[in-house]
Amino acid sequence: MCSFSQKKNILVVFLVLTVWTSQVMSRRLSEAYSSVKHEKWMAQYGKVYKDAAEKEKRFQIFKNNVHFIESFHAAGDKPFNLSINQFADLHKFKALLINGQKKEHNVRTATATEASFKYDSVTRIPSSLDWRKRGAVTPIKDQGTCRSCWAFSTVATIEGLHQITKGELVSLSEQELVDCVKGDSEGCYGGYVEDAFEFIAKKGGVASETHYPYKGVNKTCKVKKETHGVVQIKGYEQVPSNSEKALLKAVAHQPVSAYVEAGGYAFQFYSSGIFTGKCGTDIDHSVTVVGYGKARGGNKYWLVKNSWGTEWGEKGYIRMKRDIRAKEGLCGIATGALYPTA
Ligand SMILES: *[C@@H]1O[C@H](CO)[C@@H](O)[C@H](O)[C@H]1NC(C)=O
Ligand SMILES: *[C@@H]1O[C@H](CO)[C@@H](O)[C@H](O)[C@H]1NC(C)=O
Repeated sequence: MCSFSQKKNILVVFLVLTVWTSQVMSRRLSEAYSSVKHEKWMAQYGKVYKDAAEKEKRFQIFKNNVHFIESFHAAGDKPFNLSINQFADLHKFKALLINGQKKEHNVRTATATEASFKYDSVTRIPSSLDWRKRGAVTPIKDQGTCRSCWAFSTVATIEGLHQITKGELVSLSEQELVDCVKGDSEGCYGGYVEDAFEFIAKKGGVASETHYPYKGVNKTCKVKKETHGVVQIKGYEQVPSNSEKALLKAVAHQPVSAYVEAGGYAFQFYSSGIFTGKCGTDIDHSVTVVGYGKARGGNKYWLVKNSWGTEWGEKGYIRMKRDIRAKEGLCGIATGALYPTA
């Protein structure tokens, strides 16, 4: 008996020890695995941290993000993929983004010129469309750490309109908008597509990218002869809110600027497929809708140009699920779309 019980105790101790060491081991292993991953990632994206404390902080966020991505895939079949990208050590991703000033955006929405939606009565709409194939979209650009998405979206719509009306694709200047647009817009601190359109219409055009190249930081507004507007717009109109049908009519005619909520982890790490969320309608980003279509699986999507470089998404683009039940559209894409007029 005694010997039996001793054996049992030893067994229990052994088991406990085994479980404990294996837990410690696996924790160490996973820590080591993440650490190697982090180092590799840092090298790949040329990341340098100012000190060890900053590195440790970024490492913890990186680890959590990797875990989020791995759990997402482990959870089984999804219409889209995520991947570790240049944002992998960022946790408050929203803070890197854009306006963060939804309140004012909503005020704008209420007062905009919905009355003059010139595409209201159009009936002939192709079943799919890709403005890239029609030569109306410049290559993907990268806003960097400046919250200038609003300038990128503005410019992309004007590049598109100019190509459609004049047959010439010219890359235009975001930096001019960052430096010069006032109103409620604050350069790299965030801004509004509405302000940018108004500025360009009043000034008499926007400069070309070549004449006023992107710096990604606030600079003073340059008013030189070379920076005179090369592409002019008359003004802008708003697509009636909360209608993906109306958005379709507009996108069928030209690339359209849209506000979306892009601050969620799924959007942050999107890499391919038809994005279905999660996201809400807490607008924090501006993108450009440059087409639409239907995927093989039957999912209808919006083809969206982003300004986060080509490493993100499908070479810089995201296909977002179209015609969802919520009238706001996925991530609020149909809440406040705008387009310039020639
Ligand atoms: C950029 O300039 C605007 C004024 O145009 C200012 O409000 C904003 O705080 C500046 N942003 C940064 C990041 O310096
Ligand atoms: C997700 O990634 C896998 C592996 O690269 C690929 O085979 C699959 O087609 C991707 N799925 C989507 C929806 O893009």
